[in-house]
Amino acid sequence: MGHMESSGDEKSLRKDEAQRERLTREMYSQLRYPSLDPEHKASYENHRLLIYRLLGIEPTTFFQGKTILDGGCGTGEETMFLASLGPQKVIGIDTSDGSLDSARNRAREAGIENVEFLHASVLDDKMFADGEFDYVSSLGCIHHTPRMRQAFDNLSRMVKPDGHLCTFLYNSFGHFLYNLECDWLDRVAGDDIDERMRLGRRYLDWRRGTSFRREGIPSSWDARLYDKYAVLYRDSLTLKQLLGWYQEQGLEEVGSYPMKFGDMIAAYRAHSGDEMHSIRGVVARVLSPLATAPSAHGVGSGVAAHGCRACCFYLVCTTTGAPFEFWRKNGPKSER
Ligand SMILES: C[S@@+](CC[C@H](N)C(=O)[O-])C[C@H]1O[C@@H](n2cnc3c(N)ncnc32)[C@H](O)[C@@H]1O
Repeated sequence: MGHMESSGDEKSLRKDEAQRERLTREMYSQLRYPSLDPEHKASYENHRLLIYRLLGIEPTTFFQGKTILDGGCGTGEETMFLASLGPQKVIGIDTSDGSLDSARNRAREAGIENVEFLHASVLDDKMFADGEFDYVSSLGCIHHTPRMRQAFDNLSRMVKPDGHLCTFLYNSFGHFLYNLECDWLDRVAGDDIDERMRLGRRYLDWRRGTSFRREGIPSSWDARLYDKYAVLYRDSLTLKQLLGWYQEQGLEEVGSYPMKFGDMIAAYRAHSGDEMHSIRGVVARVLSPLATAPSAHGVGSGVAAHGCRACCFYLVCTTTGAPFEFWRKNGPKSER
């Protein structure tokens, strides 16, 4: 292909990218994600506290006095939850004005003062300085940008030495079926969001009521469906790729949730306590020798503390989700 042709291609790619980013922004503005019911706020927060504790982090002390960025904050649930844990300041950024409006309103109504919501992209490398934040969190965002790696590197750059980065990203293995669904939608409906949704509702909505729940908490069905099938950018990583990205950025693993299999069994056993004589206890005992089995990264929801059903779910169903990974920048070796 000649030079002129390829620069023509590049131009049209850039045009496509700008158009797709605009459609993505508009979509998330109309169908804000997540759109949790206020009555589920406590469940959301309890679940988050549990995740941090399972990762070996005590959230009530860990975030005290810190500066935090939430990249792709949506309607600000995580941002405000973090703000409630005593940091000096939390900044939530997003490109969806609709979501930012919701987030600002909620923060105002709740009287939360150490939080600020700004319109900015996680791809913007001028907005914040290198090492500006103690803690950078980005949940479910960068796989919806046109350049996932660039977004990841940009967020890593903003973490202070010895600070932490927490991401929640699509796992290629866990998203195998989902990726096939989206490849099909790309082929038959392209960038036509209405058509994608029509086909999604008609042919792919078979999991209604079983998935698309945020940590077991129901959310607006449409917001879920749009996030899943209408979104024009979605990318996923294998665990190996993700670990490589972290290492290249000088980050060391603190932990992940869903946990590695061994951690999960240990947490389950600790949780079972003196129930060890019960059926659940016996199952935990039987499973314990497997505690050194390889990681079961890539599972969607459920926690070990929910008991042995969750354990079985992890074992069998390693096909649904995205790991929540927690890493320390240039920190001392973790004990795990
Ligand atoms: C699936 S939602 C996740 C929202 C929130 N982090 C959560 O976990 O509930 C993805 C969010 O990423 C935002 N987003 C997409 N591209 C972005 C970009 N380049 N920069 C910042 N935010 C972006 C969308 O507007 C949307 O709010």
